[in-house]
Amino acid sequence: MKIIEVNNYQEMSQKAAEYIIDKVCHFPRITLGLATGGTPIGTYKNIIEDHKKNGTSYQNVTTFNLDEYIGLSPENKNSYRYFMNEQLFNHIDINKKNTHVPHGNVEDYQKECTRFEELISKHGGIDLQILGIGSNGHIGFNEPGTSFTSTTHIVNLAPSTIKANARYFNRLEDVPTKAITMGISTIMKSKEIILLVSGENKSEALSKLLSAGVQESFPASVLKNHPYVTIIADKAAVAGLKVHCK
Ligand code: GLP
Repeated sequence: MKIIEVNNYQEMSQKAAEYIIDKVCHFPRITLGLATGGTPIGTYKNIIEDHKKNGTSYQNVTTFNLDEYIGLSPENKNSYRYFMNEQLFNHIDINKKNTHVPHGNVEDYQKECTRFEELISKHGGIDLQILGIGSNGHIGFNEPGTSFTSTTHIVNLAPSTIKANARYFNRLEDVPTKAITMGISTIMKSKEIILLVSGENKSEALSKLLSAGVQESFPASVLKNHPYVTIIADKAAVAGLKVHCK
C-alpha cells in the first residue's frame, strides 16, 4: 500500500481527480468504480472543472457505484443514484446508460445483487475503484464482520453508520436500515484502488487500518492484501498516526 500525504481536503481532491483524469485520457474505455459520501465530492468537482476547461471526455467510460440504499428510488434526493447524477454525471459527457448504481427500489433485491455482480464481470471488472472509509472501517457498505469472500449483497447497516449518514437526511428515522453493496471480494477484484481519507474524524480508522492485521472485524484491512492500493490522506487524517508512532 502506498500512502500519499497531502495538506488538506482540497489537495486530496485535486490529486485524486488528476489521477483519474490521467487514466481516462490514456484509457478512454476505462471502467471506474465510484463512491458516494462527503469524501469524493471534491474529487468529482475537480473532474467536472477539468471536463469543462480541457474537454476530457467520458463518452466511452463505464462506471459502477459501490452501493445504494434499499427502499430509495432514483428520484429520491437521498439515493446514491441521485447523488451521483447531481455530483458528477449531469455535468460531464458520460452516457448515463454506462453508469451503474445498484437499484434500490426493486421487487427482488437478491436478484438485483446477482444482476449487478454479473454486470461487473460482463464488463471485465473494475479497472480503478475509488473508496472512502467509514469510521468503523467499512468500505462500500461492508460493515465489520462481513466475509472477505462476499460478492454484491444486502446488508443491515450498523447503527454507527446510520447515525453518521443521518446528516444527509431530515430525521434519523428516515435513514434506510438496509442497503445493497458490492462485496469485499467484488472490491478486491478491482485492478487498482484509491482510498481517500480526509479529516480528523477518520484518523482513528486510518491508524487502525495501518496498524491492525487483516481481519474481517475491520473491513478496510483487507486492502493490505491487494497489490495496487494508493491511499491519499490529508494531514488531519494522518495526524493520529504520528501520535501513534511517537
Ligand atoms: C458511506 C458510504 C461509503 C463511504 C463512507 C464514508 O456510508 N457507503 O462508501 O465511503 O460511508 O462516508 P463519508 O465520505 O461521507 O465520510
